[in-house]
Amino acid sequence: MTILVTGGAGFIGANFVLDWLAQSDEPVVNLDKLTYAGNLENLKALQGDARHFFVRGDIGDRELVAALLAQHRPRAVISFAAESHVDRSIHGPGEFIQTNIVGTFHLLECVCAHYAALADAERQAFRFLHVSTDEVYGSLAANDPPFTESNPYQPNSPYSASKAASDHLVRAYHHTYGLPVLTTNCSNNYGPYQFPEKLIPLMIHNALAGKPLPIYGDGQQIRDWLYVGDHCAAIRRVLKAGKLGEVYNIGGWNEMPNLTIVHTLCDLLDAARPKAAGSYRDQIAYVTDRPGHDRRYAIDARKIARELGWRPAETFATGIKKTVQWYLENAGWVADVTSGAYRQWTEQNYGKRA
Ligand code: NAD
Ligand code: DAU
Repeated sequence: MTILVTGGAGFIGANFVLDWLAQSDEPVVNLDKLTYAGNLENLKALQGDARHFFVRGDIGDRELVAALLAQHRPRAVISFAAESHVDRSIHGPGEFIQTNIVGTFHLLECVCAHYAALADAERQAFRFLHVSTDEVYGSLAANDPPFTESNPYQPNSPYSASKAASDHLVRAYHHTYGLPVLTTNCSNNYGPYQFPEKLIPLMIHNALAGKPLPIYGDGQQIRDWLYVGDHCAAIRRVLKAGKLGEVYNIGGWNEMPNLTIVHTLCDLLDAARPKAAGSYRDQIAYVTDRPGHDRRYAIDARKIARELGWRPAETFATGIKKTVQWYLENAGWVADVTSGAYRQWTEQNYGKRA
């Protein structure tokens, strides 16, 4: 048996592949385009491991995807591949439409054709698991209940709109063609190998580099933070026991305002790597808000707990401590990914913010 993972050189995908092969001998075919966010360094521990077969390519390349499906006959496809950064989607939505919508469409077409040609026993076992986000549900007011699986879709950014479109396509391929799909909508992840364009790794990186810590708007926007290993465990659980065609919300029961996150990071760094004078909090700088910034996300993760028995193992206190430690110990990884093109992005995103 084999699984095919797309986007397995990115943050969550790489954590998923590493965790999968730490717990099972079932091989992984890993299809990733290696955009700026994909990094083979994340998979260095698997060098020479015959259970990991990496292929550089696009989920929208039908010829390639069809050939991989025919050659490896995976029992499941788990799709992480996407453009994932909200700010980038605001500066340039084109790639988001291309990969998240058009790419997912091509992938679904290939998987559907492959599924239709399988023998009965293989068809019974086959799964397509689509990894999505809580952002498709839009923004909550302070007193609204957390998102359940039946919340209406109200995406507000080009990123979340493109993910919403992909969720709808996945749903349609189940209802129309009988493709055995599962969809997960997860909250904000943090942990090792996250590209330092996202809040937590960006703040750690900037703090250590003596740069400003840019807080968008008033810093009171709320996200529900989940340790990436817990997300990976939830996906494994949904793959194993999820009901076909169902959606599972995944979250950490851990709502926090951005400013609290940044204060926590500063305090951890003050203890682990004290500055010559003062605190990392002194580097906090309020900057112009993200256009259309969603105020609050919160996930009601009771369905996956009740039906599949999954709950997060990590608390925020334990997860964030491990994460800060990982970034302190992997300064070389950060230096590699922050060189070159990333510097241009930093100028584009932060250069014009007051
Ligand atoms: P990421 O940006 O770190 O990684 C995305 C990966 O996909 C990269 O390795 C990239 O090279 C690859 N990729 C991009 N376009 C591709 C294409 N056309 N063909 C093949 N590979 C391609 O993203 P992430 O944070 O690891 O997110 C993974 C998935 O999880 C995404 O679908 C995202 O929407 C979803 N998600 C992320 C979070 C989060 O907090 N990061 C939370 C919920 C859901
Ligand atoms: O909710 C799940 C989503 O979480 C995923 O689908 C996305 O792929 C992932 O990128 C993430 O989206 P966010 O926009 O919530 O994450 P980001 O890390 O970009 O920002 C988190 C919060 O921090 C958000 O309110 C914006 C704010 N922020 C972010 C950056 C980069 C700042 O205040 N300053 C910053 O410099």
